[in-house]
Amino acid sequence: MEVIISPDTETASGAAARVVARLVREKPNAVLGLATGSTPLKLYRKLIQLHNEEELDFSEVTTFNLDEYVGLEKEHPQSYHAFMWEHLFSQINIKPENVHIPDGMAKDIPVFCAAYERAIAEAGGIDLQVLGIGSDGHIGFNEPTSSFASRTRIKTLTQQTVQDNARFFDGDESQVPHHCITMGIGTIMDAKRCIMLAFGEEKAEAIAATVEGPVASMVPASILQHHPNAKVFIDNPAAAGLKLSDYYRWVYDGKPDWQRDA
Ligand code: GLP
Repeated sequence: MEVIISPDTETASGAAARVVARLVREKPNAVLGLATGSTPLKLYRKLIQLHNEEELDFSEVTTFNLDEYVGLEKEHPQSYHAFMWEHLFSQINIKPENVHIPDGMAKDIPVFCAAYERAIAEAGGIDLQVLGIGSDGHIGFNEPTSSFASRTRIKTLTQQTVQDNARFFDGDESQVPHHCITMGIGTIMDAKRCIMLAFGEEKAEAIAATVEGPVASMVPASILQHHPNAKVFIDNPAAAGLKLSDYYRWVYDGKPDWQRDA
């Protein structure tokens, strides 16, 4: 795992955006796996900026989102559909038919999940998966003890995640759905590359456990230690628990630009 520690979220998001942009320039029909939450917002803003100012072209790009709440209509302001259209898709030239987000209103969830997996495979697999991390180490909505072999399926959120995400629902926990559809950890691990972003001291413990702890289903993100091409973009507060932070900085500072964006 490559750890890139930046002085602030702006710099970290810019570095992550350059990796995504380089892929899209090299492979215009790239398949991107995308995440929601507050963490990737600046990354999406940078991608919009690159689209507006440097003609970064998304017309042939396909996307698959990690997850969605069960029971929320696409139009619900807190649905991940609404989030993605508001913060990214409506501001770039992506074709709506190339956008895939789990359907939280699917009548037959297992059938929907199997079709989602098939659609990813038919698109040629995910070239680059963007990830955030929950304070309990979850990726997508794969909560602690999720199987490392799991595929897209329904999951129940932990009470911690319900509490964490209540801030998007006017702070009202009772409005946060308890179920979701999420890509599995096996689905995420099949992506050719993964980039994780994590900001703030509230993520420091999860990041330390992910990067330097034992690989364990109690910290789902720790499976990324087994991924052949995973980068973790964090700010100083999120790096606070890392034992080898000086080493990660030294490695990154010693790289030529072309290798940083690769
Ligand atoms: C949700 C999402 C995750 C995201 C996490 C962290 O649980 N399902 O994909 O990584 O929130 O959110 P934030 O970036 O707002 O801290």
